[in-house]
Amino acid sequence: MTTELNSPLDMHLHLRDGDMLRTVAPLSSESFAGALIMPNLVPPIDTKEALLAYRDRILDATKGDIFKPYMTLFFRENYDYDFLAGFGDSLTALKLYPAGITTNSEGGVSGFDIDTLRPALEAMSELGLPLCIHGETNGFVMDREKEFVSIYENLASNFPKLKIIMEHITTKESIDALDRYENLYATITLHHLLITLDDVVGGMLRPHLFCKPIAKRPIDREALQKVALNAHPKVMFGSDSAPHPKEAKESCGCAAGVFTAPIALAALAELFDKHHKLENLQKFVSDNAKSIYGITPPEKKVILEKTPMNVPSSCGSVVPMFAGETLSWSIKEII
Ligand code: NCD
Ligand code: ZN
Repeated sequence: MTTELNSPLDMHLHLRDGDMLRTVAPLSSESFAGALIMPNLVPPIDTKEALLAYRDRILDATKGDIFKPYMTLFFRENYDYDFLAGFGDSLTALKLYPAGITTNSEGGVSGFDIDTLRPALEAMSELGLPLCIHGETNGFVMDREKEFVSIYENLASNFPKLKIIMEHITTKESIDALDRYENLYATITLHHLLITLDDVVGGMLRPHLFCKPIAKRPIDREALQKVALNAHPKVMFGSDSAPHPKEAKESCGCAAGVFTAPIALAALAELFDKHHKLENLQKFVSDNAKSIYGITPPEKKVILEKTPMNVPSSCGSVVPMFAGETLSWSIKEII
């Protein structure tokens, strides 16, 4: 059995920089036609100069592959129309992090005062630049995303022309919000479709499954699966593949992030096949993102087949999800 994907897209990807970039970038660029690149480097990508230079380093690390990095800028409240207009086509979206909520987000937004945010968000609305948000408060860890829904709603109703992407959603409450506001969209990761908190801490602690936002309850995973497997037009695949060196994960004070880039498409095919929904995978990993972002990725055909894939125990210094295990689907050919 085989299935064919046209120009698969990963609309939330961490590629890092330096040696790590050179290790992980080819693992996405080989099979994906493009990806939305997160800006949480140290220091974050917050100028045109830094963004263009980072884009060039990515292109260098992915040389030989057909792959378009769609760049994001680290959101700051003081951006204005002229500054954002100056990026032209090189900028696809902005990423807003609440201050200190996740890896390298210390310079993010604290407080979500509409009047303070207005100039930047109105400029983005006019320029058609989407706002991608890591939607968590600093409340109790299981409630952080749920508590953020009212902030999403406040932003969505105050800036109706702004496309707001709720990144890596993990709860039923976020899914319910999707249909209440025309301008709310979402990305969903592979790992949140597969695991619950039980897989992370229910038995032996599994550091390679620890990420932000943390995986939630079975009822939440069910809600995520329902919209992803049915390719709800407002959701798209964003792996949030977030590599950290093995020693930063298997340590006292484990870094947050699951590394899924090398297994993403095979594991998605396995999941969609298991639920008899393979026909919807094209929309979830490409078509929905194309229409939400209005992008035309490069042509690339990925043929997947139902033959086993042995997942490596590590990729350089990074341990992928399902390390050492076998998936029932694999990539057969990339054209
Ligand atoms: C991400 C990272 O390591 O950059 N970590 C994670 O757990 N997802 C940051 C993020 O997207 O929150
Ligand atoms: Zn992320």
